[in-house]
Amino acid sequence: MPESAGTPILGSMRERPIGIFDSGLGGLTVAREIMRVLPGESIVYLGDTARCPYGPRPQHDVREFVLQIGRWLSLRDVKLIVVACNTATAAGLALAQRVFDVPVVGVVEPGARAAVKATVNRRVGVIGTVGTIESGAYSTAVRTLDAGVTVFSTAAPRFVDLVEQGLRLGDDSLEEWLAPMGDVYIRSSFYEMARDYLDPLKRSGVDTLVLGCTHYPLLQAPIQQVMGPRVRLISSAEETAREVSDTLTARGHRADGMDRTELFATTGDAAEFAGLGARILGRQPERVEHVEPAELEVLLDSGLAAALAEFEAEIA
Ligand code: DGL
Repeated sequence: MPESAGTPILGSMRERPIGIFDSGLGGLTVAREIMRVLPGESIVYLGDTARCPYGPRPQHDVREFVLQIGRWLSLRDVKLIVVACNTATAAGLALAQRVFDVPVVGVVEPGARAAVKATVNRRVGVIGTVGTIESGAYSTAVRTLDAGVTVFSTAAPRFVDLVEQGLRLGDDSLEEWLAPMGDVYIRSSFYEMARDYLDPLKRSGVDTLVLGCTHYPLLQAPIQQVMGPRVRLISSAEETAREVSDTLTARGHRADGMDRTELFATTGDAAEFAGLGARILGRQPERVEHVEPAELEVLLDSGLAAALAEFEAEIA
């Protein structure tokens, strides 16, 4: 029976989980915000830790990952997919929206929208991975919303490494660990990199800076310190959570929270994911499972491969 034809399917649709994925742990910053805004929703999260980072990879490879993981989530009966990774959104959101039969929400457009709302002098900075910045996805998204805004972009890949290393150091809450001047390690490594990445953006006079990578919200406090108090930092997580909420509400698909479940999966080590993930989520994830990358690879069947080839031929 088509969904519009009756209530029973709609009822079960409400209880289906939201699927969220990222190249690794960073997308938990988005998942955390979705769980805060929508505490009654069930969640399935996949962190593709074994194949992280996506940032330096060819767009074609990232698109393949998007299709594999989108299919993996679809098989878990999700009602909406969140591509909680800027690099994957830039490379494959449009393709995923075409292929999967549930709404697919990315993180680039929500971040761009928040930046356009926030800027007063209409000069917006964006930092992200090489893949995200080279794709021009943020510049396109910002200009589509307001052609009068000038975008200044810089790839800041070493910030990802810094967060990854930082996650493996210490065991206190990440927010505490990342408090400005709170730790010798972050101070020395961070400020040296920050000069390279952020000084040109400061000189461009941006009044708004988009943290266009899932890892960067974890560096929010020290980035703010370098950029100065007048620059507004935008993390896509909050806007993305709002978009997820609006989409589910508009479709009548919000859960009532009675039977909430959560499942976290990683292509890396499950115990490590649970430990490091707890530092981002602020609590222990309920369940963490391991998924072999090979289990994802086989999901890219001939139908998905054909859709990918068609998509790439169109954008070539
Ligand atoms: N999740 C990626 C992003 O938001 C950052 C890490 C990576 O390069 O995979 O772009």
